[in-house]
Amino acid sequence: MAGRPRIILDCDPGVDDAIAIITAARWTDLVAITSVSGNVGIEHTTANALRMRDLLDIDVPVHRGAERPLVAEPFHARHVHGMTGLADVELPVPDLEPDSHDAVAAIVDATRAEEGLHLVPVGPLTNIALALRADPAISRRVASITLMGGGATGGNVTAAAEFNIYADAEAADEVFRSGAPITMVGLNLTHQVRMDAGHADTCRGFGHRVGDVAAKLVDYNISVHRGGGRPGSGAMHDPCAVLAVSHPEVIRSEPRHVVVEVDGAHTRGQTLVDERGRMSVEPNCRVAYEADAGRALELILQAIREAPGV
Ligand code: BDR
Ligand code: CA
Repeated sequence: MAGRPRIILDCDPGVDDAIAIITAARWTDLVAITSVSGNVGIEHTTANALRMRDLLDIDVPVHRGAERPLVAEPFHARHVHGMTGLADVELPVPDLEPDSHDAVAAIVDATRAEEGLHLVPVGPLTNIALALRADPAISRRVASITLMGGGATGGNVTAAAEFNIYADAEAADEVFRSGAPITMVGLNLTHQVRMDAGHADTCRGFGHRVGDVAAKLVDYNISVHRGGGRPGSGAMHDPCAVLAVSHPEVIRSEPRHVVVEVDGAHTRGQTLVDERGRMSVEPNCRVAYEADAGRALELILQAIREAPGV
């Protein structure tokens, strides 16, 4: 459909990644889905991306990506997403194998074939960093790298670091220094967009399989976050990065200079945002600060209600 942004969704499904795939299928032209090791290992994230493709019955290539971070040891979040990544939702074994086992080549090729794509990474930045190493000019050919990761105020793995950046801080460092037009949709933003039991009921009420799956994912996301600061709801991190591309009016961002800490004893994986105003270093990034949460949730729910294949 004309007018929709064309994106590559680089993901580690992942409960909120799965909702991001549904959101992207409705509001963007999905050029490809690439998988990366993150919330769970690469076998599971790739299989889950394929499962979501089957569920939505969409004709989008899925490319398997990096099985480990650039330097660090693999770091997963099974306690947040379940042992296999999609909570306790049982989806059929995927119909097909991945279209390739080289997500990096797929990103390089797609961005050479077409200027103006948006890369939307919502997992660790390993594939994106490797693609930029293979072809640094990607930074000039893409419309944006709009990533879910980091934040302006603090972390969730440590006090300083958010999961996607912490899991491959060296990759994130390379991406933030690449010169690409980056938008960082971090925790300070995504914590504003929360889904609760009422949203899960709404999804169930759609009366189709995608709605049922989404409802289970939302319920699980609430349950694993029940000990957090705002019980009864869970942040929908990854769909926010998709919406920042498809509906930029919903997510307000401002230019800032951001660096990734790779060495700090207490701050490894932190995205340090320069907030000094006139004293700041030249911006290398847009930082998302404010969501129209009501509208963002409407768009996510509409994407679930009107999902392809229902
Ligand atoms: C990010 O980490 C992952 O667990 C989620 O899928 C999201 O991409 C939030 O910190
Ligand atoms: Ca993710």
